[in-house]
Amino acid sequence: MQLQLSTWPEIEAHLAKSRAILIPIGSTEQHGPNGLLGTDALCPEIIARRAGDAAGILVAPTFNVGQAQHHMAFAGTITLRPSTMIAAMMDWAQSLRRHGFEKLYWLNGHGGNIATITAAFSEIYHGVSFAGAGHNQPPLRCSLRNWWELPGVMDVCRQLFPVGEGSHATPSEVSVTWFGYPEAARQVAMSPRIAPNGPILDAEDFRRRYPDGRMGSDPSQASAAAGEKIVSAAVKALIAEFNQFAAD
Ligand code: NI
Repeated sequence: MQLQLSTWPEIEAHLAKSRAILIPIGSTEQHGPNGLLGTDALCPEIIARRAGDAAGILVAPTFNVGQAQHHMAFAGTITLRPSTMIAAMMDWAQSLRRHGFEKLYWLNGHGGNIATITAAFSEIYHGVSFAGAGHNQPPLRCSLRNWWELPGVMDVCRQLFPVGEGSHATPSEVSVTWFGYPEAARQVAMSPRIAPNGPILDAEDFRRRYPDGRMGSDPSQASAAAGEKIVSAAVKALIAEFNQFAAD
């Protein structure tokens, strides 16, 4: 069930049964020569929507621009400053809370978002606590899960891609997007086959170290069929974890 494809009476009715919502959160940033700019937003979105359809979980619109400063030397990347992202996440949370949502489960697709999401949770909790005793607003709980860390998912990825998974523009994430959007699959020559790895600093330095945008990966191995296996494992784990969070 998607919030964007629902009417307000449907959401009001859903709130009478459940106060929990699943929010995909990611980034719009370069993902190497064959990966889509939307990869880090599309992966959690693809997984969340399938879980939502299978288990009646309400899925919010995707928070699809995040912390991508270090990818800004590649065309198409869009980034938010940490302060902007925290402010936007707070407004999303307060809007949902206003309607009665009490459990916000954020499914993240971008490692670079983690520190800022964690800081945003702290800001959200401050706002709730500073409201003081005796107020009549509902409580609010936030949970963060990176999709690749859902139980069992990395095991599937390691089986599919024992060599060249790397850390950015990975064959696993590219496969997930190609499963969601088969028309996006493309063959692109890459050299070296496995990209260099190293630190992440600023945007210019990133492009110098990783000229085609990949880090330690060989995404030429990606396939929609592999993506289907990864998504299947992720959806199963997500439904179990979301339901536990919603019931806790
Ligand atoms: Ni990524």
